[in-house]
Order: sequence, then C-alpha cells, then structure tokens
Amino acid sequence: MKRVIDTFRGKCRASVALPGSKSVTNRAMVLAALAGGSTRLEGALFSRDTKIMADCLQKLGCAVVLCEAEGYVEIRSGGVEKFARSADFFVGNAGTAARFVTALSALVPGGEYSFDCDAAMRLRPMSGLLNALKLQGAKFDFFGEDGFFPFSMRSCGLRGGDIEVDASASSQILSALLMAAPFAESPARVVLGGETVSRPFVGMTLGQMGQFGFSAREARSGVFEVGKAQCADSGAARVYEIEPDATAASYFAMLPALTGGAVLLERFGRCVLQGDAKFVKLLECAGLVKTCKVGDSLLVESARAEPPFPPELTSSEYDFNDISDTFLTFAASSALFPSSVEIRGIGHTRAQETDRVAAVAAQLAKIVARVDEKSDSIGVFPMERRALRDALSGGRVEISTYDDHRMAMAFSIPGCVPVSEGAWIEIENPGCVSKTWPGFFEVLDRARADSEKFRVVAVDGGAAVGKSTVSRVCSQKLGYMHVDTGAHYRTLSFGLLESGISPDDISAIEGMLSRIQIGTLVDGQSAKMTVNGVLARDDQIRNKRVNEAVAKFAAVPQVRNFLKNYQRSMPSVAAENGFSGLIMEGRDIGSVIFPDANARIFLDADEATRQARRAKEGISDSISKRDALDKSRKSAPLVCAEGAERIDTTNMDKDEVAAKTLSIILKS
Ligand code: DC
Repeated sequence: MKRVIDTFRGKCRASVALPGSKSVTNRAMVLAALAGGSTRLEGALFSRDTKIMADCLQKLGCAVVLCEAEGYVEIRSGGVEKFARSADFFVGNAGTAARFVTALSALVPGGEYSFDCDAAMRLRPMSGLLNALKLQGAKFDFFGEDGFFPFSMRSCGLRGGDIEVDASASSQILSALLMAAPFAESPARVVLGGETVSRPFVGMTLGQMGQFGFSAREARSGVFEVGKAQCADSGAARVYEIEPDATAASYFAMLPALTGGAVLLERFGRCVLQGDAKFVKLLECAGLVKTCKVGDSLLVESARAEPPFPPELTSSEYDFNDISDTFLTFAASSALFPSSVEIRGIGHTRAQETDRVAAVAAQLAKIVARVDEKSDSIGVFPMERRALRDALSGGRVEISTYDDHRMAMAFSIPGCVPVSEGAWIEIENPGCVSKTWPGFFEVLDRARADSEKFRVVAVDGGAAVGKSTVSRVCSQKLGYMHVDTGAHYRTLSFGLLESGISPDDISAIEGMLSRIQIGTLVDGQSAKMTVNGVLARDDQIRNKRVNEAVAKFAAVPQVRNFLKNYQRSMPSVAAENGFSGLIMEGRDIGSVIFPDANARIFLDADEATRQARRAKEGISDSISKRDALDKSRKSAPLVCAEGAERIDTTNMDKDEVAAKTLSIILKS
C-alpha cells in the first residue's frame, strides 16, 4: 500500500480538528485504573496505542468502554487490590503500554504475568524499568535477550523507599515508576541515576498525577517524592478532559510555513501538559510562522504573505531534545528550506519506534543534496527548488516509513508543496499512522479541499469599525480578492455631485445611471470600480463633500439596485483573475448581496473608539450621522445579518481582529 500526497494548489487555508493526545490519554487511562471508581475521558484519542492500553487494562480487570463515535473512553476500576493476578499482555509497539502496564502489574502481590510485543518493541529499552522493579522484589524470566521483551514477571508489590532508576534511554521508564509509586507499601522516593530524555514528559506525568489526586513532586533535581495513595475510591465518578495532541499539531503548524496562508489549530490552547506544544514557538523563532491565540484555538500563519515560502530561517541550528517527537516534522520539511539546518538533541530517538535519526536521514537523502548523520544530530543540505524539480523530472519519490507513524505524517507535509508537476511524494505503508492518528490522511485531504475551496466572505459594519483594514489584510494573507463596496457608493456619489444632481432628484439619478458604464480594474489584491473606464482618485471620493452626501445617495433604491448586479458579479471576476476567494466589505453584503456567503462577519466598536480611530486617520467625518442614515433607510439598511458572526473590536488591536476574522473564514 502507498499513499500519494497530492499537492496544494495554492496557499493553505484550513481549520484542523486535532486528535486527543496519545500520551495524555494513555497516562489518564493508567491513572484512572489506579485511582479506582469510574472515569470518563472526554476527547480521548482512539488509535492503535490507546486500544492496546485499553486491552491491557481490561486484562488487568478494569472495565473499559471505548466510545469512539462520541469521543470518550470510560474506565471502571476496583483499584490495585482488584487487579487480576495473572494475564498475558501484548503491548504491540506502544512504548507507553509496554512500560506503564509492566509497572502497574508489578504492584500486585503474588501476580504472574507474561508480556509480548511487536518485533520493533523487542528492540526498545526496558531494562532500566525492569532493574528498578527487580530491586523492589519482582522476578523476571526472559524468553529472548535479557532486559528485553518478551518476558514473564512474578510480582510481589513494591516495597517503596528509595527506588533508583536508570531512565536515560526513555522518560517513559521514569513515568511508569512514578505512577505506580503511590501504591508502594511505604512512601517512595524515585531517584534518577543519571539524567533522562524528553524531560517535559516527566512534567506531564507529575501534572496528571496531581489531577488524579496523587502527590508527586521533584523535590530536587532527579529526586521525586511520591506520597502514599489513599485507598482506591471505587465509588468515585470523574470526568477528565484530554487535551489535543500537540505533536499531531506540529504537522499542520508546519504546513503554512511551506505553502503560505494560514491554519487554525482547533483547541490547541488546551495543550498545557505537553512539551511538544513548544514546537510552534520554535517555528516562530525560526521566522517561519506567526501565531495568534483566537479563543482556545491557535492561528498559525506563514511569516510572509507573499512567496518565496518558506523564507530564510533566523538560525541554522535547532535543539529538539525537549520536543524530540517533533524533530521529524521539522527535518522532513527542511528539504524545502532555503538553506541548511542542523537538528540536534535527537540521539535518544534512535531507540524509539524505529531508529528515527537513521530513518529520517535515509529518506531525506532521497530529496536533498546532502545529509550529515551523526549520533545525536543530522545536518540537512537542501537542493535549490529548481534542482529538486529537475531531479524529480516529473516522477515521485517513495518514502519508506519503517512502520513509524511519525515518518509517514512528517514526510507528507513537504509532499503538499507543488515542487514539480503533480504529486511528487508517496508514502509507503500509510496505515502506520493509526498508531496515533488514524484519520491523518483524511484530515490532510480535507485541509487541501478547504484550502482550494472558493470562499465568498462578507464583512459588514458601520463607518470606521476597521472593515477595510481587516478585509485588506485577510485578503492578502489568503490570496483572496478584496472589494470595498463603500468605494462604489462613493464613486457614484462623486459623479452625481459633479453633475449637480441632488439625492432627492430620483429621475436625474436614474438618467445618469442609464448613461454610465461601470467596469472593474484589478489593482494588486483589490478590484476597483471604474465609471466609463475611469477610476476615481482617492482624494475625489474620500473628502468632506462626499462623506456628507454618500449615505443619502446610498439610501436611494435605484442606486442600490444599480450596484447590486455589479457586486454580485465579483466572485466571477475574482475567479477569472486567479484569486481563490473574495472578501467584500460594506453594509449589506451579508444581508442582501451574498446572504449565502461562506462566512459573514459583522464588525462593531463603540462610538468613542471609532471617532478616535477616524480622527487618527486625519479624517473628519460625522460617523454617527452617517450610521444613523445607513441604519434607518428602507432599502438594505445596515444590520448585523441573522447568523453573521459579530466581532466587537472596541478593545482589540488590528492583529487580533484580523486573526479572529481569519479564524472564522478558515472554519467556513
Ligand atoms: O464604507 P464607507 O464609509 O466608504 O461607505 C460609504 C457609504 O456608503 C456609507 O455611509 C454607506 C454606503 N454603503 C452602503 O450603503 N452599502 C454598502 N455595501 C457600502 C457602503
């Protein structure tokens, strides 16, 4: 099986719902089993690794219901005392299940368990954990190499006291012991012999233990004091919200850096336990993206509005020790960076799903000029874009994934960039993504379809609410055409005033409208209306005289009708000119011109703020008088259309308004 990655035709313009975090889900399942009672995990991840964990906990005697359709997992547990005394566990290639379930079952006095796994897991480090458990009394028989899967364990509970552990190969070893430690006979101190890797995961474990009512803290560096648990509360009923997966977010955070445009990472703001949430900061520091919080989501935009994407990076060296699951995302995409980068702090990932450093280097070698693989780092020397195109010569590169979900997802991202004619990357064994994100390719397909969807966006609001600024900024960022319909009314008003026609002389207005020809001039991102082939100058339509008359002319139904058909033709003008959407601002766009627009936004701000903004622009305009006329006229009055999204911009700066508006557009 292979998956061809179709390229994005233009900028990325999508909103992405992230799966629940694998690490948080699997820790929460373990803690729920330990704490006893019933626990409902909302927003849980459903993937191979979490199903393996559920299966192991069931074998240990917990009742686990996976309700994928509604996104929750329910666990009922009688606590450690009720754990099954024997079980045959199969942990697949799930590092969390491998380490956590071993530690959990070690808590049972007189237990007999067997453990087996996928071929890849048989090579992954376990001995640090097994040695610590041995010192606490557990006995192991190994069926293969000592210290590795498969093995059997005779458990006798943990004694507690000082538990020394070597977790230098994997922080999961330390996490496993920390979670089990509250159930040792005497209060435990888990003492790290040496250092561990991926430190933030230890913080996640401690944080989640606290959330489940266990007391554990790092008293001093490498020494963890763990309080004894109260008896299991089998009557407890808790609801625990799983945060979205920050590592999964890394793929879609990278995308706008390469394609331009923007992505909304839905609920990303909830990621507080996961170290990998820092990856977006790294991208920001690298000068690849800009980010802005919008509610509990995060808007990630390309740092540049115009190509080339991605821009020159601010540094050529990046340390991933703390966020190593995301190094693959960065490394795979570095093939398209304008210059070389060195990626460090990744040696420990050689003992993960596969030897990730070697795997990434081998696959990158297919698409870059040179890769320098060292024990703890890789240097990536990309080809120039043209050289890459020539090297591909219309063909595709097959990326081997080594049954590693992150290889498959990471290398899909550069595949989205139209480097050559058509698709150029295909992913071998794409099904391996089911380890943490079974729906990844479908989400990527939807993001591509959403990005290419032609959107019509209506932005309405009174005078000086900031419509023009936000519409201009958003259309530039998204590559959409911008139309300011206020300028249409101003242009007609100017012409009528020049001809000496007053707003109440309807027949003269009709006469003039029947004599003029309107057309369109596309100027950069904006489409402007011309009258008899002439574009009115800004100083002609934006002055006191026009300000005072325009609302009166705009109230005349004949004037509005005249412009209606013209304005409704703008989506075709946008498409003909190669824009992938249209942002039209005015007073009646969402209510009358495009009531079916993909997104309808109504901007508002209090009077004083608007007056101040206008004065700052050096324009004297009686905003309230004009708004009163616009609101009270019979034909297409200024209203917030039913169903439109109202944004009160009074206390927001321009960037915040733009981010909020972009997020509404991306979700539409
Ligand atoms: O946005 P603006 O201030 O340039 O608009 C000038 C006038 O045009 C405003 O007072 C009302 C009118 N207008 C309208 O009635 N309908 C629109 N869609 C846009 C503007």
